[in-house]
Amino acid sequence: MEKYGLNTLDKIPHHVAVIMDGNGRWAKQKGKIRIFGHQNGVQSVRETIEAAAEIGIQYLTLYAFSTENWNRPKTEVDTLMNLLVSSLKSELKTLQDNQIQLKAIGNIEQLPQKAQKGLNEVIQLTANNKRMVLNLALSYGSRFEILEAVKSISKKVVNNELLIENIDEKTINNHLYTFSLPDVDFLIRTSGEQRISNFLLWQAAYAELYFTNTLWPDFKKKDFYEAITEYQKRERRYGKTSEQIIKNE
Ligand code: IPE
Ligand code: IPE
Ligand code: MG
Repeated sequence: MEKYGLNTLDKIPHHVAVIMDGNGRWAKQKGKIRIFGHQNGVQSVRETIEAAAEIGIQYLTLYAFSTENWNRPKTEVDTLMNLLVSSLKSELKTLQDNQIQLKAIGNIEQLPQKAQKGLNEVIQLTANNKRMVLNLALSYGSRFEILEAVKSISKKVVNNELLIENIDEKTINNHLYTFSLPDVDFLIRTSGEQRISNFLLWQAAYAELYFTNTLWPDFKKKDFYEAITEYQKRERRYGKTSEQIIKNE
């Protein structure tokens, strides 16, 4: 099957993560205020979710708001939170129609009550959907996540629930927000910036990285499939040689 030139029978990543960047610059280019960019970014979110579900991606993580984004002007933060609440309402039908389960990672307790409530409602309503997991990173920061994991592991050691020599990579994985998700296979960032911005540092240790100059509100299904086509050309070696990979050793 072919979608915008993408061969859907070729390898499809299990877990795709997206740093949705460039809303402010998109609005500025049009002589509008930053909020206008965020509002127009919602359509790109919808298209990306649908595009991912249509080709059988199982986990899609979207970076919607970082721990550092709290430092933006209050009016922008407030608008982003309101946009989250209204999008959760307006997108519920899309999630149900496409059998998509919503999850969230981040310091969710830091979000305004209204946002937490809306989020929890949609998480509960979509809990039995099996086609794809949509994971929203909200008030998310990878360093804070790792810090919290270290604290909870330490507590278990102090309480004699865990032996230091039994701590392994799995233990750390199990104490991250993403404990139920597989590692990130493919990380997309829009807007031309080439940095990670405190996103999934542990989980994306071996992810393939993809940077596009397209600003988030311009990122549509076609752009998503273009990115996946690029993923299909990559050879993931995990430290081995190309010959070993070809021989499946
Ligand atoms: C991404 O777009 C959205 C969020 C970080 C919430 P930006 O708002 O960062 O847009 P630019 O990078 O300033 O253009
Ligand atoms: C990263 O974008 C966070 C999100 C997309 C939610 P930023 O625009 O906040 O990142 P920096 O500040 O350019 O690194
Ligand atoms: Mg930005």
